[in-house]
Amino acid sequence: MSKRILTGIQPSGTLHIGNYFGAMRPAVTLQDSGNECFYFIANYHAMTSMPDPKDLHERTFGVAVDFLAAGIDPQKTVFFRQSDVPEVQELAWFLSCICPMGLLERCHSYKDKLAHGLEANHGLFAYPALMAADILLYQSELVPVGKDQKQHLEVTRDLAIRFNNHFGDILTVPDAYISTEVAVIPGLDGQKMSKSYNNTIELFGEGKPVRKKFMSIKTDSTPMGEPMNPDTCNVFALYKLMATPEELEALRKNYLENPEFGYGHAKQLLFEKYTEYFAEAREKRKELLANPQKVEDILQDGASRARKVADATMAKVRAAVGL
Ligand code: ADP
Ligand code: TRP
Repeated sequence: MSKRILTGIQPSGTLHIGNYFGAMRPAVTLQDSGNECFYFIANYHAMTSMPDPKDLHERTFGVAVDFLAAGIDPQKTVFFRQSDVPEVQELAWFLSCICPMGLLERCHSYKDKLAHGLEANHGLFAYPALMAADILLYQSELVPVGKDQKQHLEVTRDLAIRFNNHFGDILTVPDAYISTEVAVIPGLDGQKMSKSYNNTIELFGEGKPVRKKFMSIKTDSTPMGEPMNPDTCNVFALYKLMATPEELEALRKNYLENPEFGYGHAKQLLFEKYTEYFAEAREKRKELLANPQKVEDILQDGASRARKVADATMAKVRAAVGL
């Protein structure tokens, strides 16, 4: 059954293949299975780390381009910039006023940042209330997120229920959609690929510089001529994300049975697969980068479609709270 699905991504750096397989590909699949999708770039949220204004602007645009290149279809999906629908701030305020301090104080992502010595600002503390507003403004039913965002979804549900109990049944109580089938994508060193660990492979890399990264993927030290274990190998795990079942089987055979096949060959094969797998998206990205006005038009159109839904919610919400 078609659901209203919403998710946001922070514009916080160059996207990597962990982001693609963990977040972007599932988002495109949901879009292509007939759901009503609202996807946005969370540029207000990105302000909690006080980015340089020029960087914030450029990254927001860059993420929009990358998502469109990766398969977001603006005909099917309402694709927009968070800040183009500023009504979300008004709803965030209403939610803040029914949100107990303790609910926010308990949030792990906030506590982790404090533990890492970050000097917290009020925006960082209030982050989950704004995230709840993102979700509730569009009456979203399902919210695909990574495990790290699960608690923010619980806060969102809690606030929606509180609001409805207090002011009447107005907000849809959403469910988190945490995909269990998408494993954690390993980075160059075998840990979770993450920009914070500096172990990423960029989504749209090309040629020598990115090949060098593939060649540096950590493997065990099985000597040439000995069988290699595909099930513990990072190269194999990454190949699996992009290869057909036949291609994967062929690689498994080489690992186990071909004495002339070593990790260098596997890495080269993976690099070639990556180059081919993202070829179409890479071309599309170049086209979009050459045509920034087209991207801006898509985002504006998305914002105007998003605002229609937002306005309907806000009319009810404002009346209910007594404004
Ligand atoms: P990073 O860890 O590089 O800072 P983010 O936290 O900004 O990435 O993640 C953006 C999205 O990409 C989230 O939905 C997250 O779950 C997904 N994601 C990031 N890294 C991975 C990974 N290694 N494996 C699977 N999904 C990932
Ligand atoms: N907090 C999310 C993240 O860091 C981004 C986000 C902001 C979001 N608003 C949202 C995700 C609403 C889902 C729904 O990944």
